[in-house]
Amino acid sequence: MTKTPETLNILNPDFRMPEHCGGDRWSILHGDSLQILRQFEPNSFDAIITDPPYASGGSNQTTKNRSTSEKYSSMSKEKALPDFDSDQMDQLSWMFWTAAWLQDARRIAKPGAPVCLFIDWRQLPAMTLALQWAGWTWRGVAVWDKVASRPQKGRFRQQSEYIVWGSNGKMPLERNVGCLPGVFRYPNPQNRIHVTEKPLQLMRDVVQICEPGGRILDPFAGAGTTVLAAVQEGYEAVGIEMSDAYFQRSTERLKTALESEVNQN
Ligand SMILES: C[S@@+](CC[C@H](N)C(=O)[O-])C[C@H]1O[C@@H](n2cnc3c(N)ncnc32)[C@H](O)[C@@H]1O
Repeated sequence: MTKTPETLNILNPDFRMPEHCGGDRWSILHGDSLQILRQFEPNSFDAIITDPPYASGGSNQTTKNRSTSEKYSSMSKEKALPDFDSDQMDQLSWMFWTAAWLQDARRIAKPGAPVCLFIDWRQLPAMTLALQWAGWTWRGVAVWDKVASRPQKGRFRQQSEYIVWGSNGKMPLERNVGCLPGVFRYPNPQNRIHVTEKPLQLMRDVVQICEPGGRILDPFAGAGTTVLAAVQEGYEAVGIEMSDAYFQRSTERLKTALESEVNQN
């Protein structure tokens, strides 16, 4: 039997399980994280690793209100990937929204569990505030160097995104995790299926912050990159994704990738 979060006893038994899909050591739930996170039992996760909507992409509300494909992709309209929600808030609303789900995420994380949050330069200060507001201990910022980026005359390139990280209280040095880098250098993936898809190898490196074999939660799963990376690195992973299109895309991707891995062995 496939072990879903339901059968792993980490979901409230009275909760009506939403649409979901899973396989050996992974599952993705289809729905709104702000509702679903509340349904997990305390101490369910060994790490929270996610790339939430940034609500960024412009210096004023009019530019931020554009669709995610307009803001984050240079593809033509015909080839554009599906848009996603929760990305048009102003900064204050986004900070409240982020603090709300981060508070719920902390309740279901084990003591000492690490949290890693992707973000861009514009929302970096707000993210560090939301993290602390939600009760997590902020421990640092790692850098994702995207290698290539648009040159800007007379300005620095916006070549990096960031990983704001911390822990649920004390993070003992005796954890069974080695020394991790502070800078990750990977170009954006080719042939993306999600408008803001992260490089798989980047996520395989980042999940190493979790103790071996632990259970990782990604509340904004997108194309399922974190979930796939986690399983490939020997962890168990649960993702949540609200968009119909990306729930379909992520689950198809995981089924194909992980089944073919099994077939190769
Ligand atoms: C930045 S993308 C994640 C991309 C992912 N890291 C990848 O590599 O494909 C954020 C995702 O969060 C989803 N999302 C937005 N609001 C959500 C919510 N309230 N609950 C669950 N998912 C949500 C969006 O549909 C989008 O796919």
